[in-house]
Parts: sequence; structure tokens; C-alpha cells
Amino acid sequence: MLAVVNTPNGSAPVELRQVPEPVPGPHDALVEVQAFSLNRGELRSFRNNEAGWIPGQDVSGVVLQAAADGSGPQAGSRVVALTDEFGWAERVAVPAHRMATLPGSVSFAAAATLPVAGLTALRTVRHGAPLLGKRVLITGAAGGVGHLAVQLAARSGARVTAVVGRPERGSGLQELGAAEVVVGIEQAQGRFGLILESAGGASLTTALRLVEAKGVVVVYGNSSGEPTTISFADFRGGQNARLQSFFYFTSGPEEQFAPDLALLVSLIADRALTPQTGPERSWREIASVAGDLRERRIGGKAVFRVES
Ligand SMILES: NC(=O)c1ccc[n+]([C@@H]2O[C@H](COP(=O)([O-])OP(=O)(O)OC[C@H]3O[C@@H](n4cnc5c(N)ncnc54)[C@H](OP(=O)(O)O)[C@@H]3O)[C@@H](O)[C@H]2O)c1
Repeated sequence: MLAVVNTPNGSAPVELRQVPEPVPGPHDALVEVQAFSLNRGELRSFRNNEAGWIPGQDVSGVVLQAAADGSGPQAGSRVVALTDEFGWAERVAVPAHRMATLPGSVSFAAAATLPVAGLTALRTVRHGAPLLGKRVLITGAAGGVGHLAVQLAARSGARVTAVVGRPERGSGLQELGAAEVVVGIEQAQGRFGLILESAGGASLTTALRLVEAKGVVVVYGNSSGEPTTISFADFRGGQNARLQSFFYFTSGPEEQFAPDLALLVSLIADRALTPQTGPERSWREIASVAGDLRERRIGGKAVFRVES
């Protein structure tokens, strides 16, 4: 079968190649992949893995063969799934408890935005519960996670301030529920009960100065790559606030992946969540799109169609 493989020493970071078929374990379903998405974190994994490795965590497609132990969706089901790796391929073996079925109204492209970014948005937003009437600040709001987090927090009753890097990146965020959009975190006014912070560096230092007493700053990324200086004094205005780290993969029990994915799918089906997928792209374009994502030229999620 064809797959995108890691080529750290090549002219492009990844390329399409023939690879052996996956061999499902007893608890794995075999999925024919129709679409997948690219995460900023996966850009780093190109550099950290050996040549020939197949990346890919977010996939959607059709179950070709149900798990041998009888668990999970049956053959023929349309599904979205979270894999550890190997997802950017024509076929992938996925643990049956890490997938949710898709109604006909949810496209493969929309579903492919959900596993890493959707689970991260959903579970970081939950750190602020209850959200009704709470002020929430979201950095990287135009990105894959941020775009979904803005909508989930607003749907939960929060008053959301979305932080973007440039004015044009804020386009559409108010229509999706943001109460206000600011360019740069230093433009945010007042204090916030929940802050989702993924830029790192000076942005995180500023976030600590904006959290309200007993509020929480969820740190889940460091897109800038810059370290952060913090001091006890930064909490003076937001006393007893909490700094919470977040790693999506260990943020809940394994058996919670499927219900959380199903919740996100149902929100799309109900038109309560709008994934931003951009133009339809072939998986043959992944190397150039990866460069665009690195350089902050992609809004929302980059989604790719798998073609033979
Ligand atoms: N802990 C976890 O489990 C987990 C899970 C998913 C993602 N993450 C991390 O969370 C971050 C966001 O992920 P994502 O998939 O939403 O990424 P993304 O789609 O690339 O979005 C990142 C956003 O951050 C903004 N940003 C601000 N400062 C930046 C800088 N110096 N360099 C690059 N971007 C900057 C960009 O703003 P503009 O568009 O306005 O330029 C962009 O919209 C990444 O660092 C990712 O690795 C962590």
C-alpha cells in the first residue's frame, strides 16, 4: 500500500512510498483511510523519528475489518479514529476503543480535524468548568486547537477572548462565538477564570498576570519554542490561581477516547461545532503544506484526502 513516510535526510521531510500492509492485533480494527489531518506537534515528530517511519494520528475512513475480539465499530462503518502513529497510509490498524462512528452528515474531512485537536480543545476547556458566564482567554485561537476551543467554550456559556497573531487571523472567530478578538495577548483587558495557553515564552508570562484569583492557566503547548520566566509575584493579582499542564494522550483513561470523539462528532452533526478545514488537499501536497503550517500560513486544520 501507499503511505507517507518520514525522510529526515531527503529534500522534503516526508514522501509517498510503498510500504507493507498493517497487521491488526486482536483489539484493532483495520481502517481504509479516506482523510487525515496534520498537527503542529507532528512537525517535530518528523525530526525525532527515523527514516521510513509512518506518521499520522488523526484519521477518518471506513472499517474494512472489525476487531477480532468483536469490540468497536463493525465492517463498513464510517469512523474517525485516533492512532499513535502510522495513520498517513491507505490502511491503518487502530485500537477499537479509539474510534467513533460518523453519521452521513459528517464528512471525512470534518471528522479528520477532531482526534488530537478536538480532544485537546474539549479537555482543556473542561478545566474551566463550570463555564457559564466565565471569562476565558484562548491563545493561538486561529490554530487547529484554538479554533475548536473558542467554539466549545462559547457553547458552554463562556465569554471568550480569542488571541491571534495578526488581524486577518481573527476572521470568522466572532461568528463562531468569540466575544472579542485581540491581536497579541498583551491587548487583553481584565482577568480571566480560564486561560488556554499554547504559545509559551512571553505569552505564558502575560497569561499568569491575567488569571483571576483561583482561576486556572492550562499550558498545553510551546509553539514559539521560547522558555518562560515566571515568578511568585506574577500571581499577586490572581492569588491561589493554578498552572495546569495538559497532555492529551494521558489526560483521561483510554476508554474515554471513543465517547469524547463521539461527543465532538455529534456537535458537528448538530451544527454546534464548525471545523475549519480550508481547501481540499491531496496527500501528495503534505510536504509543502507542512512548511506552510510551520510558518503560520495555515488557519484551522490542514486536512488531506487519501488517493490511490
Ligand atoms: N499538550 C497536548 O496534548 C497538545 C495537543 C495538541 C497540540 N498541542 C500543542 O499546542 C499548540 C497548538 O497546536 P495546534 O495544532 O493548534 O497548532 P497550530 O494549528 O499551528 O496553531 C498554533 C497557533 O498558535 C499561534 N502562535 C502564536 N505564537 C506562535 C509562534 N511563536 N509560533 C507558532 N505559532 C504561534 C499561531 O497564531 P497565528 O495563526 O495567529 O499566527 C497559530 O494559530 C502547538 O504547540 C502544539 O504542539 C499540544
